[in-house]
Amino acid sequence: MKLKKNNISLDQFINQSLYNKKFGYYMKKDPFGKSGDFITAPNISRLFSEMIAIWIVSFWESLGSPKKFNLIELGAGNGEMMKVLIESFQNFPVFLNSCNFIIHEKSPSLIKIQKKKFIKTKISWVSKIVKIKKLPSIFIANEFFDAIAIRQFEKKKNSWFEKLINLKEKNNPRFFYKKFNLKKIEKKIKLKISQKQNFIEYSELGLDYLKDISQIIKKNTGGLLLIDYGYTEKKMKNTLQGVSNHKFANIFKDIGNVDITHNINFNLFKRFVKQTKGLKTILTTQKKFLLNMGIKQRAEIISRNQSFLKKADIFYRFNRLIDEKQMGNLFKVMLIKNEKNKFNLGFKN
Ligand SMILES: C[S@@+](CC[C@H](N)C(=O)[O-])C[C@H]1O[C@@H](n2cnc3c(N)ncnc32)[C@H](O)[C@@H]1O
Repeated sequence: MKLKKNNISLDQFINQSLYNKKFGYYMKKDPFGKSGDFITAPNISRLFSEMIAIWIVSFWESLGSPKKFNLIELGAGNGEMMKVLIESFQNFPVFLNSCNFIIHEKSPSLIKIQKKKFIKTKISWVSKIVKIKKLPSIFIANEFFDAIAIRQFEKKKNSWFEKLINLKEKNNPRFFYKKFNLKKIEKKIKLKISQKQNFIEYSELGLDYLKDISQIIKKNTGGLLLIDYGYTEKKMKNTLQGVSNHKFANIFKDIGNVDITHNINFNLFKRFVKQTKGLKTILTTQKKFLLNMGIKQRAEIISRNQSFLKKADIFYRFNRLIDEKQMGNLFKVMLIKNEKNKFNLGFKN
């Protein structure tokens, strides 16, 4: 791979590594699953997407079962979740007839994979979410926000410095720091993010998405169900990581073949969304959400009359999703919705 500039910011570097048209990580292959670099919940077990399907139908009912509405998946990967959602929705014909399926996906090679999976269903792909029709809109995002580029800043002797990357030596990129006026960012996002922090990690694009989605939900009603790994403390952490072949990897080695990701700061998301008057967020862990939605009962039903091996496989996968030492606690589920909508299925403690 070849990066043109000598000095670039971390988000520019991540954008190039992941989404450069020629060599970007997400632009050329299907990284999901056993033979890929990482595995996401929809690719672990269809039970995950089935629970999301039931949740979506119930949430739609809480909106008054609108006759026409949008269901938008952000970053649909290899399309596995949408595939199971559509299969599950066959049991809810009124819902199905009212639903306008939309995918927002950046990678042309993943769009190709998605299109192959949905020959029979009418789905539209939108490049910009602000183009979405003015209808009640339900957004779903599994591991979307963690795949968006971040910037990092460090406080040294009362001044803030941005962490940048020097690419002068071709095979030896390295971090360096440059003084930065953080007020510029705080003014733009209208939020004091530097208070009581020595380190800042945030995604400009991630917050832009949250802002646009919040406006759409406020205007047209609806919600965003966001599932991702992250933490809830206000104090920010350095969570930047490279992933290759299911292991941590150096982000500077084999650029374009290593996934770069980070943990979501749910506290920041909550404070940011609060700025849109009339909206509210609620949060729980993936474990609680899936158990509340009845994943255990569903696992028992589908494992009836199965061979011992098949049963073991179903429960092994179920366990990966909810075990506190695996995905259960690290992954959180956040719902952004109108304050007046009291719907909290899946979120009761
Ligand atoms: C970690 S993958 C998750 C895929 C899928 N949701 C799953 O759970 O298997 C992130 C997805 O978001 C897409 N993506 C990242 N940034 C995007 C952006 N700005 N616009 C649209 N899609 C994006 C990637 O191409 C990829 O499909």
